[in-house]
Amino acid sequence: MLNIIILAAGLGKRMQSDLPKVLHTIAGQPMLGHVLAAARALSPDRIVVVVGHGADRVQAAYDTQDLKFALQQPQQGTGHAVMQALPQLLEGDADDTSLVLYGDVPLVQVDTLRALLQARGNGLALLTETLDDPSGYGRIVRDAQGRVQRIVEHKDASPAEQAIHEVNTGILAAPTAALRRWLGEITNDNAQGEYYLTDVVGLAVGENLPVAHAQPAAHYETLGVNSRVQQAQLERIWQEEQARRLLEQGVTLADPARFDLRGSLQCGRDVFIDVGCVFEGTVQLADGVRVGPHCVVRDSSVAAGAVLDAYSHLEGAQVGVAARIGPYARLRPGADVGPDAHVGNFVELKKTRLGQGSKANHLAYLGDAVIGERVNIGAGTITCNYDGVNKFQTVIEDDAFIGSDTQLVAPVTVGRGATLGAGTTLVQDAPQGQLTISRTRQQSISGWKRPVRKS
Ligand code: UD1
Ligand code: CA
Repeated sequence: MLNIIILAAGLGKRMQSDLPKVLHTIAGQPMLGHVLAAARALSPDRIVVVVGHGADRVQAAYDTQDLKFALQQPQQGTGHAVMQALPQLLEGDADDTSLVLYGDVPLVQVDTLRALLQARGNGLALLTETLDDPSGYGRIVRDAQGRVQRIVEHKDASPAEQAIHEVNTGILAAPTAALRRWLGEITNDNAQGEYYLTDVVGLAVGENLPVAHAQPAAHYETLGVNSRVQQAQLERIWQEEQARRLLEQGVTLADPARFDLRGSLQCGRDVFIDVGCVFEGTVQLADGVRVGPHCVVRDSSVAAGAVLDAYSHLEGAQVGVAARIGPYARLRPGADVGPDAHVGNFVELKKTRLGQGSKANHLAYLGDAVIGERVNIGAGTITCNYDGVNKFQTVIEDDAFIGSDTQLVAPVTVGRGATLGAGTTLVQDAPQGQLTISRTRQQSISGWKRPVRKS
């Protein structure tokens, strides 16, 4: 049985925030969410999150079936925190394991955790690191044969121990029954008056249990966040890491230092992404897609060869093969742009299908509309889809031509091949193939004089 215990009770005072620390985000996702994703990837039998400060908010944010919560109140150290989780741990086979993770150490990777679990054998395994500057960390004390003896916290360490560069990252894996036993034995007789989880190491050694170690593949995996500065640093590290992975997959990033992904981005071959773009949620860019500078793309998919020009904003949108979007276009949820279609500057689409080869090149609002193929939407066209209470549909059939500055008062249908004259306010269906125009006839009044100011 694999138990994962995630410590998330700390206050995070230096964040200077009302939000519990583990709900602060890295790449758009709460830190706890990152840790949970890594934990779930190990398919554990149980996950227990130890909460304390802001417990209600943390629990409310992650109220899912597969999670158990344990309340630690007050916080008396990492050992005390793990004790609160003990009643919920599952045991039942020879391989019972408990893995301890931290809600504010968000970027630990699954492969590293697998290596740690592998290293454990039937004993204890510590994730350690060797740092140039180990100050503040617990030190790994080894004997002459190099066997781990115990962990000493920085504040309790002698000068000789403080000279040790191998540090405890805090992450460890232990046999569950032994962990229970050891936590029953530890005391808070130390410099901080806390129950140290790290004291279980000395107890394991006392029982002649092997203490193994593994090291993380990358240093960022064990970095914790205690302040906004550290959060910002980790954010940049993670963005660079995500950028590096995309570059390795063959995506061109105009500048990997000006790339932000807050979710997942799946790219085909030869995708180009210019500077300053933000991708959120789940985004797919197919082969040969080009994304211009400063686009924001959320939960959208863009088909092969399509182009998003500068400053376009997409959310919940689908873009067809070789379509052109922007610059300055806005595709809102339910926007579905067909192959070879064009959506130009200051055009907004919402719940609207724009058929193959159709064009809305400038200044338009198209909402709740079904627009056929090869339709031309003139500048200033507006679907009046909302009467203040209800929404209504506009249908524009294939090959229609909508003149500039037209209002389509929905529900209304423009027939196949119909033309609407510029400035039309369409309140009834426009028959196919005909010109429909609602415009007061133009007149010029000869001999008319401008009014003059009365003295
Ligand atoms: C801990 C380790 C230290 C290690 C360091 C790595 C102990 C005694 N020391 O020290 O060896 O080098 O992490 O960063 O374990 N927490 C609770 N409840 C508590 C106390 C802490 O949930 O009562 C959580 C905190 O929110 C945090 C984590 O446990 O996420 C670590 O706590 P922290 O106080 O930062 O531990 P350190 O003293 O830095
Ligand atoms: Ca008008």
